[in-house]
Amino acid sequence: MDIFEAIEQDHQEIRRLIHRLRGLEEDDRANQDKVFEELKALLLHHHEAEERTFFHALLDDEKVRHEGMHALQEHGEHKKVLEQMEDMRPGSDNWWKRFAELEHDILHHLEEEEEDIFPLARKVFSKQEADDLGTRIGQVKGGLNASS
Ligand SMILES: [Fe+2]
Ligand SMILES: [Fe+2]
Repeated sequence: MDIFEAIEQDHQEIRRLIHRLRGLEEDDRANQDKVFEELKALLLHHHEAEERTFFHALLDDEKVRHEGMHALQEHGEHKKVLEQMEDMRPGSDNWWKRFAELEHDILHHLEEEEEDIFPLARKVFSKQEADDLGTRIGQVKGGLNASS
């Protein structure tokens, strides 16, 4: 699996978890908590692994630096919102309002990576580099999952 396929696989899983959370009954607090925690862990690990592999390798290249920095800034914003949500009562109106904003930002972010950054990155990485980074992101994610 190359880096593009690996990232896309995570993105699909993030979208699937958002969809699952949205599809739960309004009073199903237990499963809402469970799916949200799963989504949060995946998102944080995905961002971290992406930063340490994909973006780390990209930011040296002038063609992609601007978009790359923008994406990293968004990672930071998602983390900040997730921290703010920890101080809110899960399932409260405010919590869902904040979640809706985060959901919008996340979906927009994933789309920007796939639509805007991938085409640029495909010009930067050779086939071999894309393959090596794909292996590397799998290792980094494995390490993050093991330590959490
Ligand atoms: Fe990202
Ligand atoms: Fe991503």
